[in-house]
Amino acid sequence: MIAEILFKNITKKYPKGPEALKGIDLEVGKGELFTLLGPNGAGKSTLVKIATTLTEKDSGEFSIAGNDPGKDFTTIRRTIGVALQENELDPSETVENLLRFQCRLFGLSKDQAQQRADELIRAFELETERLKKCETLSGGNKRRLHCALALVHRPGVLFLDEPTVGMDPEARARFWQVITHLNKTEGVTVFLTTQYLEEADKHATQMALIMGGTIHYRGSVTEFKKMVNSGEQLTLEESYLAFMTQSHQPDFATN
Ligand SMILES: Nc1ncnc2c1ncn2[C@@H]1O[C@H](COP(=O)(O)OP(=O)(O)OP(=O)(O)O)[C@@H](O)[C@H]1O
Ligand SMILES: [Mg+2]
Repeated sequence: MIAEILFKNITKKYPKGPEALKGIDLEVGKGELFTLLGPNGAGKSTLVKIATTLTEKDSGEFSIAGNDPGKDFTTIRRTIGVALQENELDPSETVENLLRFQCRLFGLSKDQAQQRADELIRAFELETERLKKCETLSGGNKRRLHCALALVHRPGVLFLDEPTVGMDPEARARFWQVITHLNKTEGVTVFLTTQYLEEADKHATQMALIMGGTIHYRGSVTEFKKMVNSGEQLTLEESYLAFMTQSHQPDFATN
């Protein structure tokens, strides 16, 4: 496997906060559709922010597509697309303008920027929102715009932190069409966090489970289900819940 995303012994403690990551070793292969699962506060967003150079790690190393953030910071920024969990959009800008600005930031000409903005507005069905100010968008439409913004420069690696929160079923289906198309036909590596396990079950092939800043499982979704279940055909959500119940048993924790 060629590691497209590689973390080696990453640690992070927030000032006056918890030890959010306690030595993360993780590899994600090129072209994988990978999901990082885990309970609230497990460290998922912290890992995404470190990988996307938005937060400093305390120690450890990581690389994206062979690039070291210490040496190839600009290359990494151009290689990745990121939609963070928190919504931070310029409130007084319109959807179309924001997309065009983002395209310009990545070096597209005016005409190219308009064309790319149009494509993404179409892809995420934001036509009726095109001229609306971001502050007036609904939660789900903000998430669509975040995903569109992440894609302006056709990144080879996509980090999506709970991208579909608040999207209606049609928007979610549309979102997955776009993402699976990018993954399957263009080989884009996808690193996704989600609490919607039916989505992960349907679309992801590889996964990791993080709890309390430590990875507890890394492998295929199919293997995870097999490991948890004794012969039963369970969904990923059922398997996840069974795994959580087992790991909260005192015996399990001390052995
Ligand atoms: N800026 C911060 N300052 C202090 N502590 C923080 C900060 N950001 C996150 N934390 C803490 O670090 C830990 C990991 O948080 P993180 O946001 O990475 O979890 P998560 O797995 O993304 O959770 P969720 O599923 O709720 O999004 C939590 O205990 C959280 O409270
Ligand atoms: Mg999070």
